[in-house]
Amino acid sequence: MAIKKSSHPMLDYQKDSIRSKNFMEAANAVMPGGVTANIKYFDPHPLAMKEARGSKVIDMDDREYIDYVMGYGALVTGHGDERVKKAMTEYIENHGTWLFGTPHALEIEMGKRIQTHFPSMELLRYTNSGTEATLLALRMAAAYTGKHKVAKFEGHYHGGYDQMLVSVSPSMKEAGEEREPNSLPESKGIHPSHLRNTVVLPFNDLKACERILTEHRDEIGAVMIEPIQSGFIPPDLSFMKGLRQITKELNMVLIFDEVKTGYRTCLGGVQSIYGVTPDLTALGKAVGGGFPFGVVGGKRDILMQSAPSHGSDVFDASQSKNKTAQDVLFHSGTYNGHPMILAAGMAVLDILEKEMDVLLQRTNQLKQGIQEIFDRYQVNGKVIGMGSIFSVVLSPKGKIRNYRDLQKSDLATRKEIDFALLKRGIYLKPLNRYSVSTAHTEEDIRTTLTAYEEAIKEVYGGSRF
Ligand SMILES: Cc1ncc(COP(=O)(O)O)c(C=O)c1O
Repeated sequence: MAIKKSSHPMLDYQKDSIRSKNFMEAANAVMPGGVTANIKYFDPHPLAMKEARGSKVIDMDDREYIDYVMGYGALVTGHGDERVKKAMTEYIENHGTWLFGTPHALEIEMGKRIQTHFPSMELLRYTNSGTEATLLALRMAAAYTGKHKVAKFEGHYHGGYDQMLVSVSPSMKEAGEEREPNSLPESKGIHPSHLRNTVVLPFNDLKACERILTEHRDEIGAVMIEPIQSGFIPPDLSFMKGLRQITKELNMVLIFDEVKTGYRTCLGGVQSIYGVTPDLTALGKAVGGGFPFGVVGGKRDILMQSAPSHGSDVFDASQSKNKTAQDVLFHSGTYNGHPMILAAGMAVLDILEKEMDVLLQRTNQLKQGIQEIFDRYQVNGKVIGMGSIFSVVLSPKGKIRNYRDLQKSDLATRKEIDFALLKRGIYLKPLNRYSVSTAHTEEDIRTTLTAYEEAIKEVYGGSRF
């Protein structure tokens, strides 16, 4: 049955979240916009949380929600997983500290574990975030190729630093030709040189990528991609294979940013699904189990540039040093390979090795259920994504292939559905993607689908339905 759109769920939201509203007013006096990461903000004000367990979060107005943000994908085993908690507390009890500042056993154990899932990582290094991981990957690529420009795709996010804060969510008015996108700043304060040094490519358009990359073949050393755009728009297999081939031919390091997709699409990430091996991979989010963590791994030759052996410790100012800083690729950090986080990460990988299949089944159940609701009510909605992350796009277009398709979709109605869901105890930051966790139960999925159907009726049908 086809239904017509009406109604407005915003009023209830304001009324039901009064303590969050007051909290945000107080937060405004401490932090600009009341938040310490802009992603946490949405209009009219975000919900502030006070407690979370398993698949649920509770806000300051004592309302409980089934959480599908899950720390923007990081909490793949849900909130406060007892096994993760135990691994961390046992680590302290058994080892007496939470930071050595020296090499330690978990660095190798975790590394070997990751290498079994990601065989492309012949060697790897740890960082403290996904941002740091992609940043290090770019430095490695520039050092390896001697070429300092980078290419990225329109609509792809790789972290909050100047070089990659280019055309992440560009305005369609300024974005230029679809097949030759402009490089646009994603923030105030970006030096114009970054717009010249970061070339923007159209996702899923191999011919256009080949032309642009060939044009810049002597300058571009790295091509970085979210192999599944924003964690839910998949590439064509021919596009992935073609990109691999072109980057090889043009001596460009192909970097898969699997910060969202690693340990969420499946244990081996998008590269294992597509059978395409990048030169470097960046991981973050899920692999750290909700703690600040990142990994860069890949080809031995590229990684070895950062090896400080043979007297090349960059902080060693002694005369005996036989290499200079320029001979070694800098990578350091007080917290790199933090034992507590590695202990948490190991526990997460233990859980995922056992429970990934169930997690994927449960996510599919939810995806199929939402799609059935769209089909039943003849709403032009599509549920897209792989593994335990997906999103919902309202568009009559057959296939959503890139950022521009997404911009043409009905984002306003999608937002209304998200608010109608919030009202019914389903937590998703409006317009964001869904991240399911091993803590989500069958009952959570059923409850979510009931809420989804009601939300669709409210947004499209109003009282007439
Ligand atoms: C694909 C991708 N790369 C990098 C990052 C940055 O990771 P972090 O927020 O841990 O710095 C993110 C974060 O959302 C991401 O989604």
